[in-house]
Amino acid sequence: MHDTTRAFALTVFAALAVFGAGCGSGIDALLLPTDVHAQSAAKTFFVAEVYPAVQFTCAFCHAASDNPVHAPQWMGFDAEASYVNVEAYEGLIAAPDNSKLLLKGEHTGPALTPGAAKLMRHWLELEAQERGITMAKPTEAPKPEGPPAITADEALTQFGKCMTYDDFQSSRAYELAFQQTTGWGPCRGCHNSGFAGAFIDDDATLMFEQNRKKPFLLKLAAYVTEKGEFKDIVAANRFRDKGTEVCTYTGADKVLCHPKYVLIPEVQDGIDTFFNATYSHWKQTKGACDGSDGSGGGGGGGGGGGI
Ligand code: HEC
Ligand code: HEC
Repeated sequence: MHDTTRAFALTVFAALAVFGAGCGSGIDALLLPTDVHAQSAAKTFFVAEVYPAVQFTCAFCHAASDNPVHAPQWMGFDAEASYVNVEAYEGLIAAPDNSKLLLKGEHTGPALTPGAAKLMRHWLELEAQERGITMAKPTEAPKPEGPPAITADEALTQFGKCMTYDDFQSSRAYELAFQQTTGWGPCRGCHNSGFAGAFIDDDATLMFEQNRKKPFLLKLAAYVTEKGEFKDIVAANRFRDKGTEVCTYTGADKVLCHPKYVLIPEVQDGIDTFFNATYSHWKQTKGACDGSDGSGGGGGGGGGGGI
């Protein structure tokens, strides 16, 4: 629909075609010294299977350092360059359920297809073996504190269960639905069915339920890993940051940039308060919020179970 987008896409694809023929396959690869192509089953699998599966869906934004939407550069224009960048980017090579690659889902870019996700998972298992990364196993009594006995995926699920509708309402986080953008109306106009992984609707109950789950949850909560292992949940601030991020589409293509906005203080405070309340329920219960609706999970009451 827009020339610059097309031109950008063509540049990316042309570069992929030119560089794609390079390192890594055919007789050249066999003749190169082994330190250039260190024999790693994981790397070989990435080059042969994973890269081709995400080449077009993800490289469009993630291959170039100067892409118009300022997506972080974790790929390159061929498999070898992509492997170098993936390795250098914190949080990607990790146990599968800790890897941002598998957990991200729909965002400005698309989610991985099920097929690509399967390849990605297998590759990360190979990496974990080779690198001695602990594959955290699901535990019966998960503990967010102490040794990283849980995966990021499990922690996010726990976090979603620790959200309460009371907090969502009393914090006024739900008023995000009515936040205005410059010239493009309120958030809910475009995001009321979860477009781009952001679920913002004036039906507060629906918005609450959706934001408890990935990928929507990731607009509110992110996580940190250390050496591929889950450490902690932190505020993602996607709702805050989205409105002021750099976008370098120009001319008629400016329309491809996200609408600009600055969250009004009530909404900003609301989101922060909601995040902090949820975080403290999560910590207090050591991840064991009951997740019913609500009022269960965190604070004071609730707990005295019947027989
Ligand atoms: C249309 C552009 C676009 C495409 C295509 C795209 N992304 Fe993204 N991606 C972004 C932008 C912009 C960000 C930064 C904002 C955010 O975190 O959502 C991002 C962030 C990410 C991150 C988070 C990195 C971090 O440090 O938290 C991951 C992981 C990711 N993308 C994976 C993918 C995968 C996998 C694909 C292919 C299936 C893909 N992306 C396709 C634009 C894109
Ligand atoms: C006119 C339509 C429109 C409106 C209004 C709009 N958005 Fe978006 N939003 C988009 C589009 C298109 C994308 C996907 C492309 C992109 O990421 O820029 C998106 C993506 C997003 C994302 C997910 C990607 C990321 O970078 O994390 C977030 C979060 C987001 N919008 C927040 C908001 C908020 C908050 C508001 C209201 C203040 C809002 N949007 C208003 C169209 C809109």
